[in-house]
Amino acid sequence: MSADWEPYVHRFHAERPGITERVLSRSVGPGGTPYGWLLAALPRAAQVVLDLACGSAPLQPPLSARGVRWLGVDISAAELASARDLGRGPVAVANVSALPLGDGGVDAVVASMALMVVPEPGAALGEVARVLRPGGALVATLASDRPIPARSLPTLIGLVRRLGTRPGYPGGSNMGGLVAAAERVGLAVTSDERRPFWCDVRTPAEASELVQALYLPGVAPERERAAARWLAGRTPLRIPVPIRRLVAVRR
Ligand SMILES: C[S@@+](CC[C@H](N)C(=O)[O-])C[C@H]1O[C@@H](n2cnc3c(N)ncnc32)[C@H](O)[C@@H]1O
Repeated sequence: MSADWEPYVHRFHAERPGITERVLSRSVGPGGTPYGWLLAALPRAAQVVLDLACGSAPLQPPLSARGVRWLGVDISAAELASARDLGRGPVAVANVSALPLGDGGVDAVVASMALMVVPEPGAALGEVARVLRPGGALVATLASDRPIPARSLPTLIGLVRRLGTRPGYPGGSNMGGLVAAAERVGLAVTSDERRPFWCDVRTPAEASELVQALYLPGVAPERERAAARWLAGRTPLRIPVPIRRLVAVRR
């Protein structure tokens, strides 16, 4: 998947900037959205925070409200344009494997739903370790394949059958080697948890948006539309959005 992945991701985000924020903002679990869960693990003392693959920058308003100096980077100019349109900044175009920052100047890195979409997460983690000061924190959320309650399986199986595949990522749906990769670059993992969230799908438009938010390289648009129509026929319903949260500290 790797060779085709980067152009796919570019196109995906150019065609639908802000889609991750729109879906995750209406995904709720114990205590709030996945964004709130990420922020709950961010040390209060962090004053300079880098938002890795920030997308439309949903984390900027709450962090700026805390008095944090925030910088967002992303490879997608379209995502960053949507952040700017919302008055969120500063943002810069950058690849996570070559960050335009000096060594050790950042108190914390937040990475919401980012590490699973980059072809070389080890290189991205190396850059995170380089820009963090010793004792600085990485707080990352990722897609996860669990927990999924048994009662949701028929809907998910029906959806996967219509799509002909599951959502795909270069590092696989579990990112199995992530903890070891973090440790290798000097990031000590302090917690690695998974939590269920639920996305309410009430209308055909929301069904379509949910399908559009899935990374489905190789799936024909007509197949995506058919899956969205199938889902729309079952509304209202709640789709599980399991999330993994990893916290690590720079040694
Ligand atoms: C699932 S979205 C998450 C966006 C945002 N953090 C959020 O949670 O709403 C993944 C983001 O990663 C960005 N991205 C993908 N590959 C990247 C890379 N190699 N370097 C920087 N950003 C990248 C995409 O453009 C996209 O904005």
